[in-house]
Amino acid sequence: MKAKFGSKIGLIAATVGSAVGLGNIWRFPAEAQANGGAAFLLLYIACVFILGIPVMVSEFAIGRGGQSDAVGSLKNLGARRPWWAVGGLAILASYIILWFYMVVAGWTFEYLWQSLTGHLYQSVTSTAPGSTAQFAVRMNEFIANGFNASINTYIVMAVNIAILLLGVQKGIERLSNIMMPMLFVLLLVFCGVSLTLDRAIEGVEFFLRPDFSKITPRVALNALGQAFFSLSLGMGILITYSSYFPSSTKLTRTAVTVSLLDMLVAILMGLIIFPAVMTFNLSGEGLEGASLVFITLPEVFARMPFTRLWSVLFFLLLMLAALTSTISIAEVTIAFLQDRFKLSRVKAVMAAMLPLLVFSTICAYSYSPSFEHIRIAGLTIFDALDYFATNICLPVGSIFLCIYIGWFSPRGFLWRELTNDGTVKSHVFKLMLFIIRYVAPVLIALILVGTFM
Ligand code: ALA
Repeated sequence: MKAKFGSKIGLIAATVGSAVGLGNIWRFPAEAQANGGAAFLLLYIACVFILGIPVMVSEFAIGRGGQSDAVGSLKNLGARRPWWAVGGLAILASYIILWFYMVVAGWTFEYLWQSLTGHLYQSVTSTAPGSTAQFAVRMNEFIANGFNASINTYIVMAVNIAILLLGVQKGIERLSNIMMPMLFVLLLVFCGVSLTLDRAIEGVEFFLRPDFSKITPRVALNALGQAFFSLSLGMGILITYSSYFPSSTKLTRTAVTVSLLDMLVAILMGLIIFPAVMTFNLSGEGLEGASLVFITLPEVFARMPFTRLWSVLFFLLLMLAALTSTISIAEVTIAFLQDRFKLSRVKAVMAAMLPLLVFSTICAYSYSPSFEHIRIAGLTIFDALDYFATNICLPVGSIFLCIYIGWFSPRGFLWRELTNDGTVKSHVFKLMLFIIRYVAPVLIALILVGTFM
């Protein structure tokens, strides 16, 4: 029998759990810093509302209507080649994302461990504002150690396998029900602390007062990529998860709830990180990027009473957010293997996870001295994979998905899914259809073309 989520709240928690992850907490602040702060935030919010919600609704409709994995659902709806290949692209994108996502989840595990043992804060000399970025040195040393990063990655993979083997209700849903409320409470606490730092107001200005001259096609593409990454769009996750939705789930309402909560976490993270970036002078050369969250927050915790307690809580939270997302990303491939090749759950989990040992090890070593110099289009292996999957595969896949839903899906299909077969009213059906047909494909294509011109 097809697996289902057991309760409405569990369904929301699991879907929000999939969306809220390292994308919001680790990737968003780094992208916002590199792309002009508030200008990026503005474009990101616009992308979530104009494109994100309608694309999410489309994915939900495909999954619940098709009742299978990302490829199978499209086939079940009668999609011919090449339309179901869009599902294949989504599975590929999610699998590539998993390679480096596991590594960052591994960094999180290391930081949680170092917070527990207190090692992270040993021999910290000064925590006065303007002190040298001692945690930047630590982070750089840590990510340069490919062996250590790999071991942490394997630990996270083992935890993933355990949860995934438990299945949809006992594993994914139960974990999310506990983790998600905890995560929101902790974020609010950290936000309160960060906003009382010395130069908090400068950080808030950087994050909230837009400088419109910073808006370029590339910044727009990065904002679009971030919105899609963060909402788990174009990765097949939402198609797979919505195939576990009961027929009574209201798709538009669920999409709006998930998107707003996901955006809220990203905004809270900005309000946590940027006051600290300004207060501790962390905006200098070499300090931005992938490791921002691992540098800024320890600086904040070191200034707070009960340093280790806060640090443990935060990295635990980050670890849990990473887990609810890694399991959802892995579930895409697992569901595909189960549905397509009729593999048992255990075999499908193993077939998806074992090749990761190789791919994630490559990513774990990509910041080490022997591999760091390898560049693809000027980017490290890690960043190149992220850029390709996030900024190319997710938007391109979404364009084709919108075209399929808008123009080629069975007649009345979207209406039936949005109104639960005519049993509930959908006030936004026409608006959704208009965006899916005309606005989303054109706008996403324009942003893509504009960037590469
Ligand atoms: N949506 C997930 C995240 O933001 C992949 O981490």
